[in-house]
Amino acid sequence: MHPVSLRKIAKVYHLDAVTVPALAEVSLDIRPGVFTVLSGPSGSGKTTLLNLIGCIDRPDEGEVIVADQAVQSMSDDALSDFRARHIGFVFQTFNLLPVLTAFENIEYPLVLAKMPAAARKKRVLELLDAVGLAERGDSRPGQLSGGQRQRVAIARALATAPKLVLADEPTANLDSQTGAAIIALMRKLQREHDASFVFSSHDPQVRAEADDVIFIRDGRIAGVEQRTAATQERAAS
Ligand SMILES: Nc1ncnc2c1ncn2[C@@H]1O[C@H](COP(=O)(O)OP(=O)(O)O)[C@@H](O)[C@H]1O
Ligand SMILES: [Mg+2]
Repeated sequence: MHPVSLRKIAKVYHLDAVTVPALAEVSLDIRPGVFTVLSGPSGSGKTTLLNLIGCIDRPDEGEVIVADQAVQSMSDDALSDFRARHIGFVFQTFNLLPVLTAFENIEYPLVLAKMPAAARKKRVLELLDAVGLAERGDSRPGQLSGGQRQRVAIARALATAPKLVLADEPTANLDSQTGAAIIALMRKLQREHDASFVFSSHDPQVRAEADDVIFIRDGRIAGVEQRTAATQERAAS
């Protein structure tokens, strides 16, 4: 089973009287349990593609299949439920709630998932520890550095242990050293969770860490590179 399959996706945006084609003829399968990078220059369609995979937006044409479910048949309500249960999302601008502490930001998806308070607390403390912020649970986003905020956003995305984690240019707003540390952390968490991670990036440093690279140009798939045989690699280690 593929965590994500796309079949002949097309997406256009309408800007006043102008039609902006963003994606055309996009078909791909994401391999399970690997780190996939969507690579392409600015404007090539990476964010549009991630938003479709993340069920934040719907295509104009084609099929999006996530966790074996055809997304187009679901109502908006069913889709947001589905998203909460199956997908973790890390945004480029972190999207943390400024009035909540780091602890509360990470706890938020667990509240939505109706996890009991004691279990929530245990889970959030584990996640804070996993991202190296055990001492900063009481800090609000405004009191944290960019790299620390991104760590909170990662912990929040992983809170419900989703099998699919998406990140839109997660290092774009970080200096290169902090970016490298964030990618190393996500790589480690991806292996521990045995989840499928899909990132967009135009950063060669991020691409270098990928198992699979999907190259996007002008809204089309320009190439796919599989660098590791993930299942064999895991079996051997
Ligand atoms: N909300 C929008 N309205 C109109 N055009 C958009 C919108 N979002 C993206 N686009 C256009 O769609 C194309 C793909 O954009 P995007 O997916 O953001 O690319 P990337 O993330 O690779 O930079 C670009 O031409 C962009 O200008
Ligand atoms: Mg983008």
